[in-house]
Amino acid sequence: METNEILEQLRVNAPARIEQAGTVEELEDLAAEITGKRSPIAAGRRSLGSAPQEQRRDLGRAINDVAVELNALIDSRRVVLEAIEASQALESDRVDVTLPGRIPLRGTTHLIQQVMDEIVDIFVSMGYTVATGPEVETEFYNFTALNFPVAHPTRLESDTLYLDYGDDPEGVLLRTHTSPMQARYMEEHDPPVYLVVPGRVFRRDPVDSTHSPVFHQIEGLAVDTDITFGDLKGVLDHFAREFLGPDITTKFIPHHFPFTEPSAEMHVYANGRWMELLGCGMVHPAVFEAVGYDPDEVTGFAFGMGADRLAMVRHGITDLRHLFDPDRRILEQYR
Ligand code: DAH
Repeated sequence: METNEILEQLRVNAPARIEQAGTVEELEDLAAEITGKRSPIAAGRRSLGSAPQEQRRDLGRAINDVAVELNALIDSRRVVLEAIEASQALESDRVDVTLPGRIPLRGTTHLIQQVMDEIVDIFVSMGYTVATGPEVETEFYNFTALNFPVAHPTRLESDTLYLDYGDDPEGVLLRTHTSPMQARYMEEHDPPVYLVVPGRVFRRDPVDSTHSPVFHQIEGLAVDTDITFGDLKGVLDHFAREFLGPDITTKFIPHHFPFTEPSAEMHVYANGRWMELLGCGMVHPAVFEAVGYDPDEVTGFAFGMGADRLAMVRHGITDLRHLFDPDRRILEQYR
């Protein structure tokens, strides 16, 4: 085909095709086809050299005119398509700043942990130190060092969760109370001792509204040269007022624990009735002897309280099982 004819065809057909290009990418492909290196226009320019001398000028100008005309159309179509694509991108990336935000789930400290922290704080403000001990304990620290007789009922498998673990001659168990830390701590530290021990403890108890095989205690121990039962009552009374309010009434009732003598329970009058909050007493001389203290030189008191029960009294919770229910509607009430 003659170059002129080709040019004429381009002039007739190309404008409609340019106008129909729907995207910048399509348009660039088309531009390459019409005016690029392999286009008829480029071929026409290359052929100029071999064209007869007298036609060269007109032919050159004709090629140029078509190229200029089509390039102008391509450029103006490009401006239009770029504007369309930019506004489409804006539309699809649009952020609606009026939408409510997504609120991330915020965890809470469990009520029992909150209560334990608060109890520990009350004692820390009276100068006590905090320590924690192992949940897997030897029978020696859990019972023997605390003056439990060999045949004491809580040593029975029916009360205590024994483990088939290690080769301790006396047996290994999940600690039934935080009291073993009394012995562990005194073995490692000289008197005076002012200590609280928060922790998890375990018993072979079926679950009901006031029992769980896993529960929480805070142990306390004060050992010095002249500690009296009056100190015990003063400290625990102060604790009860700090934790349950200045008007709380307490009473001490005689009790028995192997590791204290005399021993007592402290009860408080709350929610219209008396409730036992903790066990306590003066540290038994046999415990001092077991840890290498001289019972003629030191005296002390100890106490152990149930954190779960304290949480229930303080918050009027009637069923212990609510505290171990993973239902967020319950847990979130205690932020
Ligand atoms: N360990 C006892 C229990 O779990 C509670 C207790 C009573 C702890 C008297 C003491 C204490 O330190 O002196 O039932």
